[in-house]
Amino acid sequence: MKRYALITGASAGIGKEFAHQLAQKGWNLLLVARREEILKELSEQLKQDYKIDVRYYNADLADTTQPQILYRFCQESNLNIAMLINNAGYGVPGDFENNDWKTHKDNLQVMLNSVVEICHFFYPNMIQQKYGRIINVASLAGFAPPTAGHTLYGGIKSFVVRFSHSLHLEGKKKGVHVTALCPGFTFTEFHDVNGTRQMVSKLPNFMWMKSKKVVKQGIIAVEKNQPVKVNGKINRIIAALSSALPNWVTRMLFAGKTNKYRKR
Ligand SMILES: NC(=O)c1ccc[n+]([C@@H]2O[C@H](COP(=O)([O-])OP(=O)(O)OC[C@H]3O[C@@H](n4cnc5c(N)ncnc54)[C@H](OP(=O)(O)O)[C@@H]3O)[C@@H](O)[C@H]2O)c1
Repeated sequence: MKRYALITGASAGIGKEFAHQLAQKGWNLLLVARREEILKELSEQLKQDYKIDVRYYNADLADTTQPQILYRFCQESNLNIAMLINNAGYGVPGDFENNDWKTHKDNLQVMLNSVVEICHFFYPNMIQQKYGRIINVASLAGFAPPTAGHTLYGGIKSFVVRFSHSLHLEGKKKGVHVTALCPGFTFTEFHDVNGTRQMVSKLPNFMWMKSKKVVKQGIIAVEKNQPVKVNGKINRIIAALSSALPNWVTRMLFAGKTNKYRKR
């Protein structure tokens, strides 16, 4: 049975780059996001360029029913999902009280609940086949000290790191590799979508990575079965210091600086 890689958030940025690099490696793909036209065009292009099968499924992952419908779609279409890239995500700028509950709830649904639920649907089949690859795209923000503004983002990404690490330990002897991929600032649509492009463009060049490199490192990390991959030397230093030093020291070192790039 043909193997497929399911990628959420495949219409832009890191997810789109995963689609290209996995297609190049011969993976058949199932692309998931809201923008159907982009998915359709990308599917056609990848099919033509790499002679693989590419399906797409347009879904708003803020809709709590979607993980189950997506799973059913895969079953009915006979798609053997052997790789899962939980990547869809976005930041919500502003202080906690200035965003309504729906905004926070949707954010938790897309970046946290749906990540866990999609894993829960597809992981058992991977165990059964003694083969599976899962990359949950987290962030350096999962390690860095908390910031004011974008209130839930760091907490959600810390959760994704810890959840993925636990799943990694469970999957280890069952043939399923699980990696939390933790990029720092990466050139994608992310900061255009959340309206912080102007603020973050003041960051020095060395803080930025291209999605090509982020994704390449992610694929290598999951093949090696690394539980956590922080992209880039600078980001690894920040993550290591954040984990090793007392909270008051990391807050003093980083928090004042990162606050400059958080929209409130
Ligand atoms: N860029 C960075 O600096 C950075 C750093 C660390 C971590 N990350 C993480 O990397 C991941 C990918 O982000 P990116 O930088 O590639 O951003 P991006 O270019 O804005 O892409 C985000 C993707 O998520 C999809 N998406 C957003 N909301 C969705 C929803 N409700 N339902 C389904 N799909 C949804 C978007 O597709 P549609 O709009 O078509 O639905 C798009 O394909 C995110 O989890 C982000 O937190 C990014």
